[in-house]
Amino acid sequence: MKVSASILDCDFLHLERELQAVVAAGVDAIHLDVMDGHFVPNLSFGVPLARAVRSAVSVPVHSHLMVTEPEWLVEKFLPFSDMVTVHLEATDVLDQCIETIAAGGRAAGVSLNPNTPVADLKDVIGRVSDVLVMSVYPGFGGQAFMPEAVGRVRELRALISAAGSAATISVDGGVSPAICRDLAAAGCDTVIAGSAIFRSPDYGAAVRGLTCSTF
Ligand code: DX5
Ligand code: ZN
Repeated sequence: MKVSASILDCDFLHLERELQAVVAAGVDAIHLDVMDGHFVPNLSFGVPLARAVRSAVSVPVHSHLMVTEPEWLVEKFLPFSDMVTVHLEATDVLDQCIETIAAGGRAAGVSLNPNTPVADLKDVIGRVSDVLVMSVYPGFGGQAFMPEAVGRVRELRALISAAGSAATISVDGGVSPAICRDLAAAGCDTVIAGSAIFRSPDYGAAVRGLTCSTF
């Protein structure tokens, strides 16, 4: 299992130190939760922070855009992101978003809120690099994992196989080591974790737990 660190819960006063610590702890990517106060009831950060993070780490940077009409923003994140993920629920022009991201040479991700049917992805599954399954309602770190996400990953894995797609599956929200084995068995490739890493006294142990390697 790959592990991506959501920095939403890090110590922003010492961002560079936090980034170095999670990279040293072995994370495969840094996950940026971009929130607009409209698509989700919270504000976080935007392009300047993505630029700063990109300049500080050599691991992939993933921008998770929890914004309404991401089509106005994706281009701005491309220079600082290896993958840009938009929400299926947030745009009427999902194809355009995917094309813009792919034309920019970046991996295109599509995210699903917990109440969005997995089958809604049917038309685009052949054109996306990653599907981000939300296991909380987006907007805040530190929420409880919704167990039904495991079944949704299984359903999505079947949809991907049936379509002959190469898309990977990520799971985001409330992820802790306790659930990682079930997620891996269901077909999840990457877990995204914020509080499980940044609220732990030992980032290395937290990341090892999330990879399932300590089981
Ligand atoms: C939720 C975000 C997640 C989340 C991760 O809106 O997309 O990335 O904050 O943090 P934890 O692991 O604390 O749920
Ligand atoms: Zn996220």
